[in-house]
Amino acid sequence: MRKTELIWAGVVVFSLIIFLSVLVYAINVGYNTPGITEHANVKDFKTGVFKIDEGVYEVHILAAQFYFDPYTITLKDPVKVIFKIMSQDVIHGFSIIGTNVNVMVVPGYITTVIWYPPTNFKGNFTIICDEYCGPGHSNMFATLIIER
Ligand code: CUA
Repeated sequence: MRKTELIWAGVVVFSLIIFLSVLVYAINVGYNTPGITEHANVKDFKTGVFKIDEGVYEVHILAAQFYFDPYTITLKDPVKVIFKIMSQDVIHGFSIIGTNVNVMVVPGYITTVIWYPPTNFKGNFTIICDEYCGPGHSNMFATLIIER
């Protein structure tokens, strides 16, 4: 074996060790997909829009093949919106078009997103599933209505 081959073999092995160490570390500190916060049973999950305070809403959404429940979400003068989303079957996406809300919804977990809608946001916003989840994936959407 040539010396340069040995050096490159060493570089490859060293890189592999670094890569695997980072992976093991990430798993140990509990790294997860953004927004995924807690284990939960979908059977105990109550969907709906809950007004917590003036302008503060908690919205619980169920993602399923191939719909969102609730299908229409109406918020009046929202300042802060806490979305909690669960899936009852496979991995779905939750993306509000035209905003920075875009998360994955993994079965067995609650995905939490806190959103501060800009004050000039009003009207209808389309929510789509942006993770391929089966043959009806392209029909999986909902509507967010912001009234001001
Ligand atoms: Cu749900 Cu794609």
